[in-house]
Order: sequence, then structure tokens, then C-alpha cells
Amino acid sequence: MAYLTWNEKYSVGVKEIDSQHQTLIDLVNELHEAMKQGKGKDIMSQVLQSLINYTATHFGTEEKYMTAFKYPQLSSHKLEHEKFVKKVLDFQKDYNSGKLALTLDVMAFLKDWLVSHIQNTDKKFGPFFNENGLR
Ligand SMILES: [Fe+2]
Ligand SMILES: [Fe+2]
Repeated sequence: MAYLTWNEKYSVGVKEIDSQHQTLIDLVNELHEAMKQGKGKDIMSQVLQSLINYTATHFGTEEKYMTAFKYPQLSSHKLEHEKFVKKVLDFQKDYNSGKLALTLDVMAFLKDWLVSHIQNTDKKFGPFFNENGLR
């Protein structure tokens, strides 16, 4: 069974964003699977890098629409993104230098952050994006 499964309740009502969230979930699952199988550092670093890259693409998409539509909560939303990026980049640095292992705690942090950010923060822009013609 997958570590994290997409659920209709995660939908923000915008196809492009939902599909990016599903890709993020896939990448979290891929990282979890690699960890579980005890894959080597090369593979783990690669998967972690893919997750970081795709997260940047995804946050960029959300911020592009929030900016274009003048979303009132743009700055606080952006701040959540920035804090997460910083945390994951710090983690990557420590992982690559051998200071930190990729544990279930780390996986739980990624999973919990993603699910809670989607449900508490991303969901808020859904109706606003819809009103601006994005579905
Ligand atoms: Fe998102
Ligand atoms: Fe977001």
C-alpha cells in the first residue's frame, strides 16, 4: 500500500493544481519506497532532488496564479512555501553531508506538511481561482 494516497477531499477544485498535488504525492511515495527498500544514497539523493525540483515548479504555479488574480493571502501563503523549501533544502544538505538520515520521522514531516498545507492553505484559494475562471 502506498504511504500516502490521493483522496477526493484533497481537491482544491482546480485541475492543474490537483494534478500537481498528485505528482507530489507520487514523489513522496517514491521516496518512502526507496527508504523502505534501503536504496543507496545515490538513488535517495536523486529522488529527494526530484521532489525538491517538482515542489519548486508547483509552488511557482500557485504563486503565478495568486499574483495574477491578486489573491489577498498571497504573502502569507508564499511564506509557508518559503519556510518549507528552506526546511527541505536544509534537510537535503544535512542528508548529503551525512549529518542526518532519511527516517520515518522525515517522511512523516513531508507527508503531514503536504496534506495539511493542501487542506488548510491551498484549499482556500480554490473558490477564488474558480471565480477568476480557473477550474
Ligand atoms: Fe499546493
Ligand atoms: Fe500552496
